[in-house]
Amino acid sequence: MLPSIRTDLPGPKAAELIARDHAVLSPSYTRDYPLVVESASGAIVTDVDGNRFLDMNAGIAVVATGHCHPRVVAAIQAQAAKLIHMSGTDFYYENMVQLAEKLARLAPGESPRRVFFGNSGAEAMEAAMKLAKFKTGRDKFIAFFGAFHGRTQGALSLTGSKTVQRQGFGPLIPGVTHIPYANCYRCAYGQRVETCKVECVQVLEQQLFKTILPAEEVAAIVVEPVQGEGGYVVPPRKFFDELTAVARRHGILLIADEVQCGMGRTGRMFASAHFGFEPDILATAKGIASGLPLSATIARADLMTWPPGAHASTFGGNPVAIAASLVTIELLEEELLANAAAVGGQMLERLRAWPGRYSRVGDVRGLGLMIGIEFVKDQATRERDPELRNALVQRMFHKGVLVLGAGPNSIRLCPPLVLNAEQASFALDSLESSLNELN
Ligand SMILES: Cc1ncc(COP(=O)(O)O)c(C=O)c1O
Repeated sequence: MLPSIRTDLPGPKAAELIARDHAVLSPSYTRDYPLVVESASGAIVTDVDGNRFLDMNAGIAVVATGHCHPRVVAAIQAQAAKLIHMSGTDFYYENMVQLAEKLARLAPGESPRRVFFGNSGAEAMEAAMKLAKFKTGRDKFIAFFGAFHGRTQGALSLTGSKTVQRQGFGPLIPGVTHIPYANCYRCAYGQRVETCKVECVQVLEQQLFKTILPAEEVAAIVVEPVQGEGGYVVPPRKFFDELTAVARRHGILLIADEVQCGMGRTGRMFASAHFGFEPDILATAKGIASGLPLSATIARADLMTWPPGAHASTFGGNPVAIAASLVTIELLEEELLANAAAVGGQMLERLRAWPGRYSRVGDVRGLGLMIGIEFVKDQATRERDPELRNALVQRMFHKGVLVLGAGPNSIRLCPPLVLNAEQASFALDSLESSLNELN
């Protein structure tokens, strides 16, 4: 199915609801365009005025199996009729064990794993941070500029994305040092791929650990295997090899935040697998349960040794969310990992020609159905073009294609992993015509 726009946007019913929303909801929400959703199925979203949109956001990389996949809906309905809540913190139930067994098996690395369940990406990161502090007896963290790890006070301390997310909320937890991420299109050390010596990791031993940050005080390095909110940035494999070597030399743990890049989006269950990266602790959420709130912090079993009461959550590991997650993983393994790799691969192949054809497309990068397109004013200077990016997002909405930005001047494509080739072509045709119209 493809988009169909029949009213001005927003339509009359959408405009009415938006006015009510604005009177009563927190103004901190970030709505880029006036989409008021009525229902959704697969990769298609229908608004309250009957307009149909192609969803290239998947509820911000959440509905991996598409909206309301019939098998996910059936699993939710069956579980809701049987047991909605019991609190896995205090009691046992089988599907919580089943999902933990599955995730422990799927996590990258050979050593046994244990799992802690929460309800959101930020909670998964909080658990990861607390576990790293608890286990190492150290209290410092290293994170990256451009990173997004969530908005609770701990996760926010790691986030290095936009000042509006931090302004007015200090002091955050002390002891987090941010360094530049492995963004080869915009190397902070002025290197080119051919000359790179992984300076973005060398800086740790050559500068940081000698000047302001004693290595023996660092509990963990926190890294997104593909940086999400920062612009869908894909690092080279050697970044992870070097990071691992440095961490091991200094007894520092590695925390992978796979909240956005995990659960099949990149064509592998976890993005870390693309790089042979084996983090000590891995956080996942978003795509894990096709839209029900659930997160998991998966750690090496020898690390997750905290005692009863050290960490818990009333709702974490809710049985209905877990039922949705078990089916989500089945669907990923049966067909959607392969679809993400195949359709994402086709899209990337087409997109990789764009910098040669469009002077304002600076960089195209991605893995599977996690694709970023960076817009610039000039390919030689690489000056960012946030105005063009923002205009494209709006124009795409009016063409019936839902996309969002990532980073200051990139568009991210993170559709449901059920996206088919026809829908993928439609999205790229629309982006190409929008680009031509705005050029
Ligand atoms: C990489 C990453 N980590 C953590 C989070 C926070 O997740 P949540 O909004 O579920 O707390 C996000 C959300 O966008 C994310 O992209």
